[in-house]
Amino acid sequence: MLSINPKDISIPKLHSYMLGAVAPRPIAFASTMDKDGNPNLSPFSFFNVFSSNPPLMIFSPNRKGRDNTTKDTHENVKEVGEVVINVVNYDIVQQMSLSSTAYPKGVNEFEKAGLTMLPSELVKPFRVAESPVQFECKVREVIELGQEGGAGNLILCEVVKMHIKESVLDENGNIDQHKIDLVSRMGGNWYGRSKQGIFEVPKPLAVLGIGIDQIPDSIRWSKVLTGNDLGKLGTVERLPSSDEINEFVNNSIEIKSVLSAADEIKVHQKAQEFLNNNEVLSAWKVLLAK
Ligand SMILES: Cc1cc2nc3c(=O)[nH]c(=O)nc-3n(C[C@H](O)[C@H](O)[C@H](O)COP(=O)(O)O)c2cc1C
Repeated sequence: MLSINPKDISIPKLHSYMLGAVAPRPIAFASTMDKDGNPNLSPFSFFNVFSSNPPLMIFSPNRKGRDNTTKDTHENVKEVGEVVINVVNYDIVQQMSLSSTAYPKGVNEFEKAGLTMLPSELVKPFRVAESPVQFECKVREVIELGQEGGAGNLILCEVVKMHIKESVLDENGNIDQHKIDLVSRMGGNWYGRSKQGIFEVPKPLAVLGIGIDQIPDSIRWSKVLTGNDLGKLGTVERLPSSDEINEFVNNSIEIKSVLSAADEIKVHQKAQEFLNNNEVLSAWKVLLAK
């Protein structure tokens, strides 16, 4: 058995052991607002519910290990002590992941992730319309656990209103775990889904993805592509050039034949096939080919 004194290993290694072992973790999709009214949306899996009376939840945006800066969500709850915690189901997992990209402060991740801002009733931050359960919360306390990279910041949230989509309820009015179809975070790039077991979502943090707001309308409002498909398309740093697209088309008889039918549905289905195999650039090439 490996027996480790936390002080003897690097913080990233310690982080990775702890997150690999304490899993699956629920995901708080936290919507906040800064003092100027700019919305922010980010996921946090250092999260759980701790009390029903009063109804309390805690999540923790940590100080970054790389440069010891704090996260926008942490700053925002200190400026405006309100947050909406939205739960994450399978249908929005890719968009949630895209929203975790380190966009500069002031960039609205609702737009980048193609999610809908729904006004709240008792707090300023917006709800995520696509999320099946949304908790409007007042921040009771922010507990900063340290001043070095990796330190957690506990955001104690009191639920003042909750919203549940009827479509996730069973015949007794309780939340049906099959219908709500929640996803959880595990170690590395792994996520959990009760229906499916575990699956991988590559971290989008290395590059600043173009975001769903930059996807051309004919693709964004496709009858075939889902929110998860768009979430993957939004992770690329740039679109392929016309030379790259031509080379791709000229090298494949199959792609040429899909394109020759001039049927948008077929083109989008082919792109979806590529996306299912995580071949995001190939999906873009087939979508952009003329
Ligand atoms: C599923 C998921 C869970 C995450 N959980 C946490 C977490 O618990 N704490 C944290 O500091 N960062 C977490 N992150 C990373 C943040 O979402 C990421 O740093 C984000 O850019 C912070 O945004 P902000 O600066 O707008 O607050 C998580 C990312 C993902 C995809």
